[in-house]
Amino acid sequence: MTASTQTTSFDSRPSSDALDVEAVRKDFPVLQRQVRGRPLVYLDSAATSQKPATVIEAVDDYYRRFNSNVHRGLHALSEEATEAYEKTRLKIARLIHAQEVDEIIFTSGTTEGINLVAQSYGGSQLHEGDEVLITHMEHHSNIVPWQIICGQRSALLRVAPIDDRGALDMDGFRRLLTPRTRIVAVTHVSNALGTVNPVEEIVRLAHDAGAVVLVDGAQAIPHQRVDVTSLDCDFYVFSGHKMFGPTGIGVLYGKSDLLEAMPPYRSGGDMIKSVTFEGSTYADLPHKFEAGTPNIAGVVGMGAAVDYMNRLDFDAVDRHERGLLARAADALSQIRNLRLIGTVPRKQAVISFVLQDIHAHDVGTILDNEGIAVRTGHHCAQPVMDWFDVPATVRASLAVFNTEDEIDRMVKSLHKVREVFG
Ligand code: ALA
Repeated sequence: MTASTQTTSFDSRPSSDALDVEAVRKDFPVLQRQVRGRPLVYLDSAATSQKPATVIEAVDDYYRRFNSNVHRGLHALSEEATEAYEKTRLKIARLIHAQEVDEIIFTSGTTEGINLVAQSYGGSQLHEGDEVLITHMEHHSNIVPWQIICGQRSALLRVAPIDDRGALDMDGFRRLLTPRTRIVAVTHVSNALGTVNPVEEIVRLAHDAGAVVLVDGAQAIPHQRVDVTSLDCDFYVFSGHKMFGPTGIGVLYGKSDLLEAMPPYRSGGDMIKSVTFEGSTYADLPHKFEAGTPNIAGVVGMGAAVDYMNRLDFDAVDRHERGLLARAADALSQIRNLRLIGTVPRKQAVISFVLQDIHAHDVGTILDNEGIAVRTGHHCAQPVMDWFDVPATVRASLAVFNTEDEIDRMVKSLHKVREVFG
């Protein structure tokens, strides 16, 4: 079944030049909250995004009205749950322009998607001396699964370098891409730096070298339109909870010929055609990779999140978020001893920095006292911290609902931090 053979109605918010951020803010109940006596400033969307009321209501509605298992019952509730579940699969296929709806596999999140590909594709395709190529800016979830499978298969993990701005060194990448490279795994947008990688070029080079490409899209999907068909990547993974949806749900997109040839990753109910004690045969895509009762409420909520995203004008979102990033970068550059970590011009929604003589956790604590939520630490990207020779950074990460005033509040608080620490 192709994604275009079924119709799903998407309502659309009229496109305009400027984003109506005040209207958007009303969609997110948590933004009404006071934290430590101040209106919440949420600058931690790269860790998890906030949820619009429509997503919260969709999950609530599922549990109140049609909670039931999927693909298993003939009764009305099970039919309704199955319909909502499969409708979300179609919405996701359309969102990312997959050719076939069966190329969408529900996972528990980005991490599980990468583990699935590493163990199933890597486990069946990697042989002694083969190589997997990643980059120095990967999240731990796009490093460790490859280390494990390379160890199991006697393959080698290669790491493409980055430069002092946090950009991928494409010459270094090309040098490490050889006929021995079987898999390239690369992030679309770095969670620690905000760097946007040239994924189309990476895919083209990798395919020319005979490798397949997995793209970690966790940080890209909430901020830009993703088209897996035009990227031509083989696998694309992302999480629901970073794109306004619930936690514990995610997506693996894979080209159907690859997925069909891959062995199951987890096994059990709902992934089989037949079972006897002598052996079992497996279900067709996508069910082969969805063993056990899935996160049905999560899928329903993610469907509502896709509806929400479809109502946004992503060009306006992009302009808005870029404007906020530029405003933040400009104001932060005025603060004494503040060093930005990740300074490529092509950045998305993330600004990381250190105040050189003050630990990031102290900065985070003072900001928290003012109701401002940022993430501090290594951001599950310790090799990035090592490269920039810092133990941790302060990371402000943006979403569509953030405002100039919120950036100004963060900057004002950072000036206070400077005063406190001298
Ligand atoms: N990967 C998430 C982050 O960057 C948790 O914060």
